[in-house]
Amino acid sequence: MKIDILTLFPDMFAPLYQSIIGRATSSGIAEINTVDIRKYTLDKHGKCDDVPYGGGAGMVMTPQPIVDCVNAVDPESKARRIYMSPKGKMLSVPLAKELAKEDNLLILCGHYEGVDQRALDICGFEEISIGDYVLTGGELAAMVTVDALLRFVPGVLGSEESAFDESFSDNMLEYPQYTRPFEFMGREVPDVLISGHHAKIDEWRREQAKALTEARRPDLMKK
Ligand code: ADE
Repeated sequence: MKIDILTLFPDMFAPLYQSIIGRATSSGIAEINTVDIRKYTLDKHGKCDDVPYGGGAGMVMTPQPIVDCVNAVDPESKARRIYMSPKGKMLSVPLAKELAKEDNLLILCGHYEGVDQRALDICGFEEISIGDYVLTGGELAAMVTVDALLRFVPGVLGSEESAFDESFSDNMLEYPQYTRPFEFMGREVPDVLISGHHAKIDEWRREQAKALTEARRPDLMKK
């Protein structure tokens, strides 16, 4: 899978080169390229934004550098093109799984008050949001999206990092986890987990997940 991330702040993407996602890129399962939109501006001062027509606060990213950058990175329109935006479709496990099946993704990160609508229309971007709040830019949202989707690309997670028995699989939050030591600051691990009785452990985990989901996310139970 190839992911191109178009941004004015390529230095923000260091987290993608660490840990599990870093391992996926260095092993070749995924290729992530950050592309500096500013390199494509025709403005002699390197400007990529301007005041909004109609007035209002902030600056809007101009269409020319974005469209030229997209055409340079994806000349044959092979990529599914995503613009990170609070106006977009909400990221979810089903959407992350759907994105994980693509061979090519192109992700545009906006800044300031957004992006000139014509750039989005001309390039055919779909919009994705990571939550009902506004970030200062799309970079963190792009990293969240890439992390969430790459977990569903075969080979990215090792067998010990399963994407199945976790929160949101089956519309349930995950049961509590424990590791060594057995006793810590006077608190012991629930006895059932050291019983060696797998059916009982599974049942206990199901009950815990159900109680947690009912208490914290009754909306998920309804699904
Ligand atoms: N850019 C700014 N806020 C955002 C959000 N909530 N989701 C995706 N992109 C964004």
